[in-house]
Formats: sequence, structure tokens, C-alpha cells
Amino acid sequence: AAPTVAAPPPAPAVPAAPPAVGPGAKAFPPGFLWGTATSSYQIEGAINEGGRGPSIWDTFCKQPGAVVNGECGTVATDHYHKYEEDLDLLVALGVKVYRFSIAWSRLYPNGETAGEPLPEGVAFYNNLIDGLVRRNITPAATLYHWDLPAALEHWAVESPKRDNLINAFGHYSRTCFRLYGDRVKHWLTLNEPWVAAIIGHVVGEHAPGHKEKPGTEGYVAAHALLLGHLRSARIYKGEFQAAQRGLVGLTLNSDWHIPFDAADPADVEAAARNTEFVLGHFAHPIFGAGDYPPRMKAIVGNRLPAFTAAEVAGLKGSADFFGLNHYTTRRVKAQAPWAPPEGNYWADILTEDKPDPAWSQTDMAWSVVPSGFKALLVHIQETYAPAGGIWVMENGLAAAGETSAAALNATAAVERQSFFSGYLGAMQEAITEGADVRAYCIWSLLDNFEWAFGYDKRFGIVWVDFTDAARKRTPKPIFGWYQQVIAANAVGA
Ligand code: NOJ
Repeated sequence: AAPTVAAPPPAPAVPAAPPAVGPGAKAFPPGFLWGTATSSYQIEGAINEGGRGPSIWDTFCKQPGAVVNGECGTVATDHYHKYEEDLDLLVALGVKVYRFSIAWSRLYPNGETAGEPLPEGVAFYNNLIDGLVRRNITPAATLYHWDLPAALEHWAVESPKRDNLINAFGHYSRTCFRLYGDRVKHWLTLNEPWVAAIIGHVVGEHAPGHKEKPGTEGYVAAHALLLGHLRSARIYKGEFQAAQRGLVGLTLNSDWHIPFDAADPADVEAAARNTEFVLGHFAHPIFGAGDYPPRMKAIVGNRLPAFTAAEVAGLKGSADFFGLNHYTTRRVKAQAPWAPPEGNYWADILTEDKPDPAWSQTDMAWSVVPSGFKALLVHIQETYAPAGGIWVMENGLAAAGETSAAALNATAAVERQSFFSGYLGAMQEAITEGADVRAYCIWSLLDNFEWAFGYDKRFGIVWVDFTDAARKRTPKPIFGWYQQVIAANAVGA
């Protein structure tokens, strides 16, 4: 039977927030989708329950020095046991959409290419999705938020292992569409494939922790991720979309890049090149002509894998909406060419970071530049004009100093409010200038496992006590601020 809408839960105590909306507020289009986002490995914990198999993050965390303080997602926020409480927080917040991810290895512990999924994993996401539907919140589900079943190794494996990996992703995707697609109408195949490929296979700070094979491994991993997206999206569109009437897309990360010296053509070119290597690497194949950007092909040459004509035709238009995760802007200067004999990812991009000293920095040392967000949204609109609009699937900050529930009203609160008023204001301006932005999710609902930074960096609008066995949640002042924005569908005093 269809779940019925439950009475609202008792509202959690929310600290007083300064007014977020006043007479001069900037309004958003009617029906704008406000939300928050999380991911499975970062919040669920319960890594040994229900037959869940290990993911590459479980194994990566065990490598000495991989994660700050040797932390891992073993318990995280214990969302696996506390999801009802978290869903009630969403109701109190008033969000219309909640973006979460499904842990592949809860359904297929070894990334199996055939057969039925584990019943406890299936039930967990059924309960979560039903809980959202009962609360009138739209579920948006990410299929791959980096917790690859460890048995599948990584995205740069060579065939036949790569074919097996893509078959496994297809099988898992099909299972999710079949089981959950009656209620989930917004699917994201991949989260931030650039980060999975480049931070995982070039920088080595994310699982699987590879420092690149000179000049190739990041591109090889990215290529496989794109083919994984293609497989999954094709299954949805070919087998489910007509009956289920949902959408399938993905979310790409991109910083905005501005030239160090706007009068120097080399710096202008460096900024454009950088955006192309991060955003264009994935956006051109999916939202552009179906292939890598021409400039990138020219620079990387035969170290860049090639798509077949059939893959180009399939990739083009394979996403129904343009998901964007955005956090910061970088000011870049062109670097003099340096050419290691076998090529190198950074030698391909040839830019050097020179942040404007006037920019403030978050606890991640990411510069706060709302105007860069606006410029990026306008750039995406002008370059790709995605038919299903731009969906901001992540934006937010880690703020220092949130050391205890009692310290939440201090400077971090001011920092958060200034960040979000700046970024939401910039997004509204981009919309008035023609960017078709339809949704916005704050990263993140909860403080959580921030990958290589462990629990040190707090992105949540709800504070989580990681020293407490019950992982007590306390809404931060920004929670009340965001409530007001959502209720008014506007921002600004
Ligand atoms: C992007 C990722 O999708 C998410 O997992 C991460 O926690 C945030 N950015 C913040 O770094």
C-alpha cells in the first residue's frame, strides 16, 4: 500500500538565527527545490551489518596515514540506525528534496554481475525511501558516491576486469531502478567522477590511493567512470524511464577559475583550460558533443583514451539534468611548460594557484568567492544549456571552531551565514541572468566522515557529537537560517 503522510514530528530545538529574509530579499522561482545532501559511507556506519561487503574506503582507511587520526566510516553518524531521526530533521528544516546515496556493497557485497541483492540492504533503502515519501520529501538517489565494492578493485583496472566492473555497475543500477524506481524519480549515476579519478588515481589522497602511472591513470579511470555512467543511464532510459517517468543524470564537481592577470592572454587561457580539464572532461561528453573537449584531446594526445563512435552517440544527451557540486573559485596563473617524458596530469593543465589575498578561507582552506559561483552557473548555461536545467547538488563549507554543542553560536555561525547568504544571493543573480537552476542542496545535513580529513572537518548544518555513543545531533544556528530561506523561497535582508 502507498505510504501515507505522517503527522509532523516534534520539532527539534533550533538555536536562534538572525533573520535570513527581509524586505530586500531576492526571490527564487516558484517551485524551486531546496534540499540537503549526504552520502552512504560518510554517514551510515554499520559497515558489518546485513552482509555488507567491504568498499574501497574501508580498505583505504586502514592504510597508515591515509586518513587523519586513522579514522574510518565504521560508525560515522550511525545513520543506519538513526535514519528516522534524521528524516524528522529534514521535516523540521522544510526541505523539498533529500539527496542520499546507496551503498553498492549493501546490495551486492562483492559487486556481483548477476543474482539477487542482499535482503537487509534492500530493506534499509526501502525504509529510508518510504520514510521520505511519507514525509512528502522527494528522494534523489546517487548510485555511486565512491564506495566501490572492494572486490572490484578500482576504476582504472584493465579489461577483462574493466568490462566486469561496468557489467557489475549495470547490474546494480538495474536492481536499484527495479526496486526503488516506483518512488525514486531522480537518479544520479555518479558523484564527482573527476574527484574519484583524479584524487583517487593521480593525487592518491582518496581510495584507492594511487599516485598516477605517469600521465595516464587518471584519464583511464575517468574514461571507465564515463562508460559506467553510460551503462547505467542507458539501462534506465531503455528499460525503466517510460514506465517510471523519472530522470537520470549525474553530478559533476567544478571550481570556477579566474585568471591571475585578466590582461594576460596566457592567464586567461590557463583559467579556461583548467575549467575544461575539470568540468569539460565529463560535461563535454555528456552535455556537449559526446566526446572530450578538443583542446584537451590536443594536449593529452594518445594518453587520453578514445571513445568509439557508438559511445560518443550514447554519451551525448545521456543525462536528463546537469548536477553540479561547487565549493570554491581559484585564481590561476599560466605555468611555463615542463614536460616529464611520459606526460603528467598537472603538466597538461599548466596552471598555478594564486588566491587573491582578499578572499576569506573556510576550514578546508577553500576560498569564499560567491561571484565565482554565479560565473560558473552562467558558464554552464551558455556552454551546455542543459535541457533539464542545472541542479546544484552540493554547496557548503566546513567551519572551524565547532568543538562542542555549546560553542555553536560562536564565530562559525557568522561564517556560515555569510557564506550561504553570499552563495545563495549569487545563485539567484545567475538565475535572473538566465541560468536555469532548479534545485539546490546544502552539503551536508550532518557533520560526517570527510574522507581523508576524517571527522575533523564539519560540513553539517546539524552538529554531531562523535564522542557520544548515541551520536547526538544538535542543529546549528544555520539550520534555523536555512529554514527561513526555504519557507520564504528567498534570501537577503
Ligand atoms: C564533495 C563530495 O561529494 C562529498 O562527499 C564531500 O564530503 C564534499 N564534497 C565536501 O568535500
